[in-house]
Amino acid sequence: MSLTPIGAPRHKITAASLRDKKLHHEPITCLTAYDYPTSRLVDEAGIDLVLVGDSVAMAVLGHENTLSITVDEMLHHVKAVRRGVKDALVIADMPYGSFHVDAKEGIRNATRFVKEGGAEMVKVEGGERRAELIRQIVDAEIPVAGHIGLTPQSLNRMGGYKVQGKSLSDIEQLMRDATALDRAGVACLFLEGIPREVAGMITNEVSAPTIGIGAGPGCDGQVLVFHDILNLTFGPPAKFVRRYGDAAAEITHAVQAFRADVLSRLYPADGESYHLSSDTKQALEMLLERKRAMRRRQITAVE
Ligand code: KIV
Repeated sequence: MSLTPIGAPRHKITAASLRDKKLHHEPITCLTAYDYPTSRLVDEAGIDLVLVGDSVAMAVLGHENTLSITVDEMLHHVKAVRRGVKDALVIADMPYGSFHVDAKEGIRNATRFVKEGGAEMVKVEGGERRAELIRQIVDAEIPVAGHIGLTPQSLNRMGGYKVQGKSLSDIEQLMRDATALDRAGVACLFLEGIPREVAGMITNEVSAPTIGIGAGPGCDGQVLVFHDILNLTFGPPAKFVRRYGDAAAEITHAVQAFRADVLSRLYPADGESYHLSSDTKQALEMLLERKRAMRRRQITAVE
């Protein structure tokens, strides 16, 4: 196993390098990002995959679920992320409704994420029913990430965000989903909200690298939502979320300090202000003095 040390220069991540990582048992790292500064930080920290997830609907736009976000809204975020990322591979999430009507529309939307957004891969939620569509998107030269298990776009069908693959028949279905997508040519496979034993079985069965979220340690890689790891989600975290920082506390502290400085006139200080040159300042003072003298003469004339 060869692990790139943190901070070391690295190569561009491609669909092929993901396969290499699986072959060499090198864990794949993935985080979501939705804008320029955070995607740039994620990339510069050495993360392999930057997923512009439709979770942006909840994490950034304040929606209750991911169902309402549109292709145009997603593109806005994908373009910003594209500008922030150099080495990581950018994955655009195909939102609900963008591939459900027919394959032609799905392919058209996938190409928009590549042509307009600069994405290098698109992600499609759903199991074996999506295999044919995925095959066609791959035929259109676009690498595809599959996504099975707890698929948030199936919220209404699932009746809530529920761990999937708990019964023997559900496990069989998940295995069918995974192998169908593998055969369809997915470049990687996201496994969300499934028991670790099942995720481990899928990982051993498929040639595509698996990226888990709430799917245990047996996957080829792990993904988390950026806002979850930084305590920016305003709610109790899911069981699988680990918090690596408290950006909410940092932001609150900075905002309160700014407010206090403005209220007490400590901000801005002289060093944080622009100044006139001494020549201009002298000229301005002379001008003002002349105006004051003129005004005094006018007042005396009236009296
Ligand atoms: O939208 C998203 O962030 C995702 C990940 C949770 C895999 O699909």
